[in-house]
Amino acid sequence: MKTAVYPGSFDPCTNGHLDIIKRASALFDKVVVAVLINDKKSPLFTLEERVSMIEEATKEFPNVEVCSFSGLLATFMKENGYKIIIKGLRAVSDYEYEFQMALTNRALFDEIETVFIPCSAEFMFLSSSIVKEVAKYNGELHGLVTPEIESAVKRRFGH
Ligand code: PNS
Repeated sequence: MKTAVYPGSFDPCTNGHLDIIKRASALFDKVVVAVLINDKKSPLFTLEERVSMIEEATKEFPNVEVCSFSGLLATFMKENGYKIIIKGLRAVSDYEYEFQMALTNRALFDEIETVFIPCSAEFMFLSSSIVKEVAKYNGELHGLVTPEIESAVKRRFGH
């Protein structure tokens, strides 16, 4: 059984993330969305909120499950017997950092392969930071996140 791990902060999960999850779920037997518990960042949403938002947004995909991890991704992969990391690429500028991460992860656990999936053209510009920036100034979030996540983000910014 081929299981792929899609790691990220998902603060919040965007339609760009969902595009990658959907396409990965068609390529692999199982996709584990791994939400980073990052003590250094102060996220807009708690870990539990981020996990539950992704669970809701991916409920139509039976082979997608959501979990969390802390520390090194490579350690999480090794401890759980996972070997494939999925990363979405938006632009060439993403590639340099992602290439470095892919090589670091393989240096830490030599059985890891990173599979890059190019994002759909309509999501080239999209990121969690963009969603938060637009939401902060009460801009239109339609098409950027699911309606449920849109409500949650707006509520968080008091709109
Ligand atoms: O959504 P993000 O914040 O771009 O996701 C980044 C993430 C979580 C994939 C990356 O920061 C990560 O893997 N963090 C765990 C720590 C780690 O293993 N770093 C790479 C080796 S130094």
